[in-house]
Amino acid sequence: MLHNRQRRRALIAGAVTLATAALGIGLSTQFAGAQATTLRAAADAIGKDIGVAVDVNKLQSNTQYRNTIATEFNSLTAENAMKWDATEPQDGNYTFSQADTLVNFAEDNGQSVHGHTFVWHAQTPNWVQGLNATAMRSAMVDHINTVANRYEGRVDSWDVVNEVVSDNNGAMRDSFWLRAMGEGYITTAFQTARAADPNADLYINDYSIEGDNAKSDTIYRLAQGLKSQNILDGVGFQSHLILGQVPSTMEANLQRFVDLGLKVRITELDIRLNTPADANELAQQAEDYRRVTEICAELADCSGITVWGLRDNDSWVPGTFPGTGAALLFNDDFSKKPAYTSTLNALGGGGTGEPTTTPATTDPATSTPPPGDGCTATLSVQSPWNTGATYSATVKANQALTGWRVTWTWPGSERISNAWSVTGTLTGATVTGANAAYNGTLAAGQSTTFGFNITKNDGSTASVPTVTCTPA
Ligand code: G3I
Repeated sequence: MLHNRQRRRALIAGAVTLATAALGIGLSTQFAGAQATTLRAAADAIGKDIGVAVDVNKLQSNTQYRNTIATEFNSLTAENAMKWDATEPQDGNYTFSQADTLVNFAEDNGQSVHGHTFVWHAQTPNWVQGLNATAMRSAMVDHINTVANRYEGRVDSWDVVNEVVSDNNGAMRDSFWLRAMGEGYITTAFQTARAADPNADLYINDYSIEGDNAKSDTIYRLAQGLKSQNILDGVGFQSHLILGQVPSTMEANLQRFVDLGLKVRITELDIRLNTPADANELAQQAEDYRRVTEICAELADCSGITVWGLRDNDSWVPGTFPGTGAALLFNDDFSKKPAYTSTLNALGGGGTGEPTTTPATTDPATSTPPPGDGCTATLSVQSPWNTGATYSATVKANQALTGWRVTWTWPGSERISNAWSVTGTLTGATVTGANAAYNGTLAAGQSTTFGFNITKNDGSTASVPTVTCTPA
């Protein structure tokens, strides 16, 4: 069974091969011409995951949160919704509504899912923690089988065990798992997960293992043993980092795991600083994000990067480390931080990281529109593949607007399958779109963007129809 990521990768690889062969140009030339302007498009172009930890409640209640997650990321992880206390709060009583919401959203938006997590010492209900060795083993096996089977083919990879090593000089964590079952609980978890979903990539995940240190040495020892049994595919480096402290040994440390034949992945990236942040700190943070992203981008076996939350005010950091925060890529109002730009650039994308809605210009050439031309709109193809493509659209106001409408007709079989930051009748041959609630009011000279994916039934080049834009 093909997993979401394999499906997406095959589509992108097919498109790249086709376009390269047809045009007779090299890959780098092809992408140099059209620099990606979202994290997602940039990561797609280099075959990496750019992921985000998702709060499912916000996904359900906040349109801008939902649209930004769809536009900017090609991989999702449930921040809490797939943990044991969420999925099996009582013995044998499974609740999947939140996890299902996340997986359905990912599928609707062509995103892969990195699952988090089967076996952890935290967020595991008390009923598990009090069991004897035999009963605990059986609870673990039942839990992994049930969750992995439910999402087989839909969740691409799993953090099978999380944080099994302590912060004490690389000793194993003194958890209820270790005390009841001994170190073998880790092997049991991986064997069970492998049997339950043989196609999912299985990861061991931990924090403070980004550099070469006693804790990462213990993970290395565990990884060697699990790899030799063919029940481990990758190592997750959570990367909850502090400003200016990307470990100097990070690249070499990840490389030694790759040399074992494993994938590596940055699974929970955030970079915290003392709040409130000043411009220098935000610039340093941008450099830190750039460095981490470059390390992954340059390592063929780094599957991707997941940031642990969308906006600074979505992050767990201020609650756990009071006085610190501002650790993510987006401000509380969804505007993009300098770290967004540096991450985009390190993924090979372009753009400035300015907010999607750009400031009004006072240039008379643009502030005085031709009569009857209240707005203009253009489409551009971000990521093409054989049977589809991701597009970005820009709407520019030539006069002050309180709403806009766009329309175009596809010349061939192209049809929109899903869209963000736009409403209307979108799925037919003739598309009639309108602004979303939050991007209709534009000053003269201001622009905003929306995006969508299309499907098409052949390998033809994704077309770029002319768009008619009218004030509404
Ligand atoms: O859902 C309940 C809600 O019903 C209740 O009213 C509220 C009152 O406190 O708590 C809610 O649960 C909280 C949960 O997040 C969902 O919001 C928990 O208290 C809170 O402890 C929990 O925090 C999560 C934390 O893991 C738990 O240890 C964070 O959101 C999450 O970001 C964090 O993620 C971990 C990774 O899984 C593993 N690596 C470290 C990372 C950061 O701690």
